[in-house]
Amino acid sequence: MDHYDAAFEELNPLPRLLMGPGPINADPRVLRAMSAPILGQFDPQFRAYMVQTMALYREIFQTRNEWTFMIDGTARAGIEAIFVSVIEPGDVVLVPVFGRFGNLKVEIAERCGADVKVIETEWGAVFRPEEIEAALRRHRPKLVAICQGDTSTTMLQPLADIARLCRQYDALLYVDATASLGGNDLPVDAWQIDAVSTGLQKCLAGPPGVSPITVNDRVTAVVRRRRHVERGLLGPGESQGPGTRIASNYFDLAMLMDYWDEKGLNHHTEATTGLYAARECARLLLKEGLEQVFARHALAGRALVAACQAMGLALFGDIAHKMANVTGVYIPEGIDGERVRSALLQDFNIEIGASFGPMRGKVWRIGSMGYCARKDAVLITVQALETVLAAEGFRLLRGTGVDAALAVYREAKGASPVRA
Ligand SMILES: Cc1ncc(COP(=O)(O)O)c(C=O)c1O
Repeated sequence: MDHYDAAFEELNPLPRLLMGPGPINADPRVLRAMSAPILGQFDPQFRAYMVQTMALYREIFQTRNEWTFMIDGTARAGIEAIFVSVIEPGDVVLVPVFGRFGNLKVEIAERCGADVKVIETEWGAVFRPEEIEAALRRHRPKLVAICQGDTSTTMLQPLADIARLCRQYDALLYVDATASLGGNDLPVDAWQIDAVSTGLQKCLAGPPGVSPITVNDRVTAVVRRRRHVERGLLGPGESQGPGTRIASNYFDLAMLMDYWDEKGLNHHTEATTGLYAARECARLLLKEGLEQVFARHALAGRALVAACQAMGLALFGDIAHKMANVTGVYIPEGIDGERVRSALLQDFNIEIGASFGPMRGKVWRIGSMGYCARKDAVLITVQALETVLAAEGFRLLRGTGVDAALAVYREAKGASPVRA
């Protein structure tokens, strides 16, 4: 059957278990919420859902920021919206890079016309505050843009000291929490982070396609100065802001704020099903409890680490600074990493991740996040990996991986009330 004929077959994707670095399987309740009826974007019921969603994400971001709302598009939509609305051509932006997604921020900031200053650390490590301070002193940036978790390396950058330094050097701090939010603590207000964006498709247990963001008053002031209402929407006597017009219409935070607040000034057509998904992700997470969800991710991560170590696999990077929800595992000598991934997919319907850049061909990345940060999902993945590795000739004692993961879960059950 050629592609055209195949396109008339019913859509029937295989029931994969997504244990890579994202996307993961969306919680079925999120998928159900997405099939609710479409409402008009100015229907009072829909506007109420928008306001409720803002309130729910304030709790998830641990912030009182009024401007906590959704950008339609995958996680990079949130990054682009913040960058294009904050950065004016020629602004100095400091990007500390510790993996592929740091480089993505370099690329987006350059496209916004920023004078980008990059500092790098080796993949598998994080920055020390002194390194950031030296760069702040040297470059005096308007904005510092950094990942909390870089999915490409699995590392989790400690941010409290960096945020304090950014205040000291009067720089705005933007944090990309796409990979980490929900699985790792990020108290936005307590740490005084100015802007954060994320995506639904990782620890928030949803589909890709919506990017929740939060920005504080410092960022809002920059954005509002640049407010230029779209031609055709400007009311009589209304004037435009004194700052330079934001180069993107779709990602113009000033116009998006006018759309999301009670003014309801027309902009794009809000992605109805995306909004339902975002609301349901947040509702489920907060019903379970922020602390409980962090603990569930931590437990799944610990179980995976124990299983890999018991199987004789070496872990990638500085484990003390690993995200709870992704584990990097060295592909053993003599084993073809892609054959293993392919056998997991073909024989077990399980997806794990490959790697990019300097880690390409050397490291697998196994996720345990969102709806997939579950005991059964972890145990099945470990069991399947063990079977495939043994078939590929890797010498291991069968059963040790699953036993080690189970032991972590048993121990945690004795110690805390966390649901596996
Ligand atoms: C840390 C980080 N930032 C940004 C992105 C880009 O997200 P998206 O592919 O949803 O646009 C990803 C995707 O995995 C990510 O892990």
